[in-house]
Amino acid sequence: MPDPILRVTGLKKQFPGVQALDGAGLDVYPGEVMGLIGENGAGKSTMIKILAGVKQPDEGIIEVKGQAVEIPDPIASQALGISVIFQELNLIPNLTVSDNIFVGRELRRSRFLIDDNQSRKLTRELLGQTGLHINPNTRVEDLPLSQRQMVEVAKALSIHSSLIIMDEPTSSLTGQEVERLFEIIKRLTGQGVAVIFVSHKLEEVFQICDRIHVLRDGKDVGTKPASQLSHDEVIKMMVGRELGSLFVKEEAEITEPILEVENISSHAGIENVSFSLRKGEILGFAGLVGAGRTEVMRAVFGVDERTAGTIRINGKEVNIRTPFDAIKHRIGLIPEDRKDQGLILEMMVRHNTTLPGLPFFFPNGILKERKEYDITRSFIEKLSIRTPSQEQEVLHLSGGNQQKVVVAKWLALEPRILILDEPTRGIDVAAKKEIHRLITELAKDGVGVIIISSEMSEVLAMSDRIVVMHEGRKKGELERGEATQEKIMEMALRTTQEELHHAGRAE
Ligand SMILES: Nc1ncnc2c1ncn2[C@@H]1O[C@H](COP(=O)(O)OP(=O)(O)OP(=O)(O)O)[C@@H](O)[C@H]1O
Ligand SMILES: [Mg+2]
Repeated sequence: MPDPILRVTGLKKQFPGVQALDGAGLDVYPGEVMGLIGENGAGKSTMIKILAGVKQPDEGIIEVKGQAVEIPDPIASQALGISVIFQELNLIPNLTVSDNIFVGRELRRSRFLIDDNQSRKLTRELLGQTGLHINPNTRVEDLPLSQRQMVEVAKALSIHSSLIIMDEPTSSLTGQEVERLFEIIKRLTGQGVAVIFVSHKLEEVFQICDRIHVLRDGKDVGTKPASQLSHDEVIKMMVGRELGSLFVKEEAEITEPILEVENISSHAGIENVSFSLRKGEILGFAGLVGAGRTEVMRAVFGVDERTAGTIRINGKEVNIRTPFDAIKHRIGLIPEDRKDQGLILEMMVRHNTTLPGLPFFFPNGILKERKEYDITRSFIEKLSIRTPSQEQEVLHLSGGNQQKVVVAKWLALEPRILILDEPTRGIDVAAKKEIHRLITELAKDGVGVIIISSEMSEVLAMSDRIVVMHEGRKKGELERGEATQEKIMEMALRTTQEELHHAGRAE
């Protein structure tokens, strides 16, 4: 056995009210993929930030290639051959892709001249390796989340590290992009590079990791070869008790239509989409990334302007022009991108939870702190949000716990129609099960629920009916009993007569 590239022992880190790491350790060898797994708030990102030189440990030893080291800052981390893809992406939105990749270590023609041509050329090559064919001069803010994630990967590749750490690198990637990333990982490990891989998607973890290390409450539960573990065993290590891996949907009574959408179109590329949702029903939206599912919901919710079509709620036509109109009609939308649309990170958990509801909870403008407190407490319990107090700034919660606050905030409004766009992204298996349970409870109370998820198994398990979309159009619907992954894909990709007709006319 060669020496480990990285050996961490007895790592401790305390934040006010939280022992994030409590003696954790880890060994990683050249050429292996080590899965770092644990519940939301287990300490994964904290360990990674310490290795990246972003945070300093209170105690512990870090050895790189057999030498004890200090990592006072990110430059020291890079110099040790470590590169990190952070969970909350670290790109600078208003810089170009190329500038982001080389920021801080610009290629130079001379002491004073930055070699832009060379940077662009290298950027193109690096992007090519990740399968991203975009102009290196594109500003990062103009890219969708999945492409930003790939830019981070390209940046990590440019550093030629011996250890690459990826903190939930696939959370916004499509299936195809994930495959591409895995090819890159295999190529790197073939060259002796070691990879630490963090993900809540256990299928992926088993697909790519050689060994799995589980953290719980900042402590090591153990390390084992992936081949010697089952899903259920990993889950048990994570949560410390048996937990059936999947939630079984309970039947709710489905009654009259609550939302009817007819022939809506928007500038975001959706065309003539119609569907209806009944009380007590869970309606899944399936399709490839880019199929327009998010855009349909944005049009319904008044985020994007509708260019055509009508919306009826409880049989009455309504005019929704802004999200506020939508909220007044008791529609809730849990958006896919929590950082941009979901939360005010500098505000405390309680205010984030109750903020959109204030005009509704307290219609005469008088704030009842007790009520605010109680609402928040009930959601912290229901969703097991890990926070030292309601007063904690959301910024300081782990990624998955931030996502839970987004969910809480919309549930607190007690919507009659609830749209969930990737509600369990970044959420650990135990909490995911809780969210699925909450969704079915809402349906039982007569709420109409729409769920979009890139995890086909989630859509199939939760939905009473599934709408399949492709390129901004609805391709069809499947009932719960008849829907399978194959049928959905077939429907998403089949060209309809109407499209052939359109294509014929366009020529
Ligand atoms: N800057 C901070 N201030 C206060 N508490 C913090 C800070 N950073 C992390 N924590 C807390 O430390 C604990 C560990 O967080 P960490 O981000 O390491 O979890 P994680 O395992 O990455 O979880 P997730 O799967 O949700 O990303 C959490 O309870 C979190 O709230
Ligand atoms: Mg994390």
